[in-house]
Amino acid sequence: MKRRALLAAVVLAGSILTACSTEPSSGEDPDGELVLGFAQVGSESGWRTANSKSVQEAAKKAGITLEFSDAQQKQENQIEAIRGFIRQKVDVIAFSPVVESGWGAVLNEAKAAKIPVILTDRAVDPENSPLYTSFLGSDFVEEGEEAGVWLIKEYADRSGTVDIVELQGTTGSAPANDRKAGFAEAIKLDAKFRIVASRSGDFTRAKGKEVMQAILNAHKSPDVLYAHNDDMALGAIEAIEEAGMEPGTDIKIISVDGTKDAFVAMKAKKINVIVECNPLLGDQLMRLVRQVAAGRKVPRRVETVEDVYTQEEAEEALPSRQY
Ligand code: AHR
Repeated sequence: MKRRALLAAVVLAGSILTACSTEPSSGEDPDGELVLGFAQVGSESGWRTANSKSVQEAAKKAGITLEFSDAQQKQENQIEAIRGFIRQKVDVIAFSPVVESGWGAVLNEAKAAKIPVILTDRAVDPENSPLYTSFLGSDFVEEGEEAGVWLIKEYADRSGTVDIVELQGTTGSAPANDRKAGFAEAIKLDAKFRIVASRSGDFTRAKGKEVMQAILNAHKSPDVLYAHNDDMALGAIEAIEEAGMEPGTDIKIISVDGTKDAFVAMKAKKINVIVECNPLLGDQLMRLVRQVAAGRKVPRRVETVEDVYTQEEAEEALPSRQY
């Protein structure tokens, strides 16, 4: 098991992760009463369900009043929720942006209202960087690279081509953009790796299955499926089995997240490798919220600790999976 991104919850000094000061909001007492407005993406995946639960439980534990909104994967709903938090004058706003672009206006409104914003899990376009205080989440480019590195090792002895099907996450989202880019970067030096189809399955099981069925009709026998999350991989497994093939053997499967359901599938040899993406961000988020509300310095970026798991490790790891 290889450890990735060892930066968890550390206050990082130095020029890259320059600490920044925030305007103190109404809750200057770090232990005092605070209201956090949290605009969640939706409930598209097992990962997301675990993330929402983690945020809700952590807020309770930390004594922070949570205003929680589910945007059902729609940017306009998330923007409306954030505007509602601004009207309500919450102390801090946190959100996981469904897509990267289109946040300038609402982030400027939060800034004008002097309400600090923390991004969790997903990023916004770099030009909007001055408009939020801190980012808490994963390095999605690295996740894509890890997927590619596994593939390169797995096919080290293959001289012929390796045909890859890619199931992308939600179009325009940071994890879809970055996991695609990281993977492409890792495999680009060897021309035997060919991405023969790359389509969005919107991070859901149903769409993953539907898109995989269509892809299998067009590309009879790809060697590899690279799914940007477990739910799409699990949906695709159903499609592969219904097409009379063995997932994990006839088509090798690389997935991202590390949900219990995916570990069960990996134990059954239907998934070959999982690049972990940790959704349990709640406690770290609440610490950041308290610090930001008190006007303390916080790191610009806090990354989570994550691993890569192979089939050999699935059985041992399964009982301790927390999501
Ligand atoms: O942003 C994180 C991604 O969103 C997870 O990998 C996916 O499962 C979720 O829907």
